[in-house]
Parts: sequence; structure tokens; C-alpha cells
Amino acid sequence: MDALRITGGQRLHGTVAAGGSKNATLPIMAASILCDGPVVLSAAPWLTDVCTLAELLRHLGVESQRDLAGDLHLCTADITPTTAPTGLVRRMRASFCVLGPLLARRGRAVVPLPGGCNIGHRPVDLHLAGLTALGANLRIDRGFVIAEARQLQGAKVELRGPNGSTVTGTANVLSAAVLARGTTIITGAATEPEIVDLGRFLIAAGAIIEGLGTDTLEITGVEGLAGAQHEVIPDRIEAATLLLAAAITRGTVSVTHVRPEHLTAVLEAFSAAGALVAVGNHKITLHAENRPLPIDLIARPYPGVPTDVQAQFMALLALADGASVIADDVFPERSLHLAELARLGARIERRDRLALIEGVHRLSGAEVTATDLRATAALVLAGLAARGETVIHEAEYLQRGYENLPEKLNQLGAKITRISPTQAGAPRFSRQSRKPATHFTR
Ligand code: UD1
Repeated sequence: MDALRITGGQRLHGTVAAGGSKNATLPIMAASILCDGPVVLSAAPWLTDVCTLAELLRHLGVESQRDLAGDLHLCTADITPTTAPTGLVRRMRASFCVLGPLLARRGRAVVPLPGGCNIGHRPVDLHLAGLTALGANLRIDRGFVIAEARQLQGAKVELRGPNGSTVTGTANVLSAAVLARGTTIITGAATEPEIVDLGRFLIAAGAIIEGLGTDTLEITGVEGLAGAQHEVIPDRIEAATLLLAAAITRGTVSVTHVRPEHLTAVLEAFSAAGALVAVGNHKITLHAENRPLPIDLIARPYPGVPTDVQAQFMALLALADGASVIADDVFPERSLHLAELARLGARIERRDRLALIEGVHRLSGAEVTATDLRATAALVLAGLAARGETVIHEAEYLQRGYENLPEKLNQLGAKITRISPTQAGAPRFSRQSRKPATHFTR
């Protein structure tokens, strides 16, 4: 997919299923390095990021395959490789999740530092401090983290940073601690459902973990992990994006294969913005008739509104009946979507860490360029509501985190077509002028 053309103005109606969670699948795939037996993941989404990690794992001796039912099978064929190739890690930040499992299972890990990205500063200091606390001998050489430990030792590890707990840092340290000798206590652990899912997977493979879903995890190290069969949780970010599509087009959409309890803060935000929300068994229905009401929204670590829906909410509030404010406590600099939303007629001003959004009556179709995964989703939503035609260049970002989003939205009545770069015309600026040399998603 290179570009998307959206003819806006259709109210969305119908029922659609969310896919499996990307952010749960990636660390679980990385943790398969720990397992001596086969791993089978059902409901793992078919995304570019999942394929990238599968390719990286292949370099590390873990073979993967999808069966006809869509289940993802992972099996370690060779436990000797310990070096993750630079290109693949730099293509996707979550690849850094192989560090803890490699170190714990193979005694050595050489993993490139993931570097910066276009949603703001994203350090890995907490990952490194956590693994050092477990006894890893760790150094950084020419952009690589080189970690060694003949046997990790249980320890006390604190994973809270200035902007909250680190999610993939928790995944890395938790995955390493399951094979450490003795007990590890992680304080300031991320409580995101994706970490709980990783924990459930590890327990199914033989790990001993207490406290999942709280910020204190107690891990009793075991000698080894077997394989496991595991069903990945539904993607709460995709579900929220689909509900936002209903809200922004003033339609009625039911999203199935969803865990409403993972979306409490998001559903509260919808209600505050005037949408009607009904929660059922693994199902959420949203109905919106009028312009959204203005709200103040702060993206926070779980159970708050996720930073990964901040951009999409900004698209909705661009059409609100009044002024809204959005802040992102997790990634305060996540704001590249502001300029592109403005091209569609949104009135958004950035003041310090706040985005001030003056709702307008309507957005108008225009040519825009995607800058990262969730910003692309925000542009799709805005395009659905805009009058006329919107063309989103470089929309391939979408497939990194959403399985067939255009098709799912079309099933609800949207008019989105995938178009080639020739049909789309040149983007308004060259890649070099606008973006860093490598891009990362969450
Ligand atoms: C994960 C998610 C991403 C989501 C983010 C926050 C995956 C694959 N990605 O990213 O979609 O947006 O959580 O919910 O699950 N930080 C430090 N030191 C560190 C690590 C992080 O200070 O060592 C800071 C970050 O700069 C950020 C905050 O902690 O301000 C949270 O980041 P973190 O949870 O680590 O994000 P990721 O795990 O990379």
C-alpha cells in the first residue's frame, strides 16, 4: 500500500471485529526465544511489524510459520545465534524485546540500540538498568548493546521512569527474570494488558510470576521453559480506532472481539464527548449523532487513555462543538500529526506540552502525508469525516499496526481505495526533507 484515497462524508454502520493485539504479539514472539518447546499463537495479527520480527527471529534461530487456521507457530531450531541484525532492529523498535530473552536463554545478546524515532525521545535506559540489576555485564559499543551473563540472578528492579513505567522495558526484564536464579521483584512494572498477556504466556510455558496487572511483579526463576499455546488478547488500540471511526462519521458501529475492560478510560472519553456507548460481552457499540462535545484529554499509562489513541482523538476533537485540550504524559513530543490534520482544516495550536483544538464545523479533503502509525490512523479518521477527497501519501505505515483497516472501514460503508504512487501523484515533500533516515513504530 502506498497511498489511500478517501471519499469522506459516509456515516459508518455495522459490525466489525478487532484483530489480535500487535503490542502483545511482539514481546510474546520475542519471548519464544526462551522456550525449548514449540510455541503456537492464535489470533496473532498479520502485520508488517509481525513479519519484521519473524524475520529477525529467523536470524536468531527461531523458525516461524502460519498454518491455514492463521495460528503462528514458532520453534527454536538453533540456540547459538546471539546477534540481532542492525537493519531489522532499526526498522522496528519493538525488536529490542529480543534483548532480555537472548541474554537469559543464551547467555549473550548483541542488539543494536533502537535509536530515536518520530514520536519523540525514546530511551532504553530502564531496560538496560533492569538487566544490569539481574547481573548482566552490559556495555555499549559502536551502537550495539552487548550483554553477557552466564546465569542471571534474581534482584530488585525498578522500572518507573519520568513518564511512567516502560512497557517494552517491563517485557524485557520480565522475560529475562523468568530464567534468573532466585526471586526477582520488579517495582514500577507496566500494568498494560499486553504485559499481562506476556505474563500469561510465560506462565503457560512454565514460568512462575505473581502480581500480573499490578505494578509489582514477583518472579521465581525456573530452570527452563517448555513451549506453550496461547491466544493473544484483542487489540484495544484497533478497537478504539474503529469506535472513533463511528464517532467521527456520526454513525453506529459495533466492535466485536474486544475486551471492554481494557478500554474503560477510552469509553469514558467517548461518553464525555457525547457519544452513546453500549458494552456487551466482548462487544462495544458506539452511536453518535451530533458533533462531539469538546473535552480535555490526557494520555497516560494504563489504565489511562493510551498515548496510541491520542492522535486519533485529536482528529475527532477537531470537529467538536468548542475548544478541547489534549496532553500526552507518555510521549509529550508526539505531535507530528498536528500539521497534517491542519491541512484538512483542523485548527490546532501547540502551546508547551498542550495541543489546543478549536473545533470546526467541517474538515475538507486534501493531500496529506503519513508520519507514523497512529498519525496515519488519525488522518484516515479525519479523511472519513472530511468533505471531498483526501489522499494520504506513505500510508504503508498503517499495515504495521492495523490488519486491513481500509477494508474493515469499507465494510462499514467507508469509501477508501488503495492507490499506487503514480495514481496518487508525488507526495508534497521528499522523504529526506521531512523524516529521519529510519522510522520506528511503537
Ligand atoms: C510501548 C508500545 C507503544 C506505546 C508505549 C506507551 C509496544 C511494542 N509499544 O512502547 O505502542 O505507545 O508503550 O504505552 O508495546 N522511557 C524511559 N526509559 C526507558 C524506556 C522508556 O524513560 O528505558 C520512557 C519513554 O521515553 C516514554 C515512557 O517511558 O516517555 C514510556 O515508554 P515505553 O513504555 O518504554 O514505550 P515502548 O515500550 O517503547
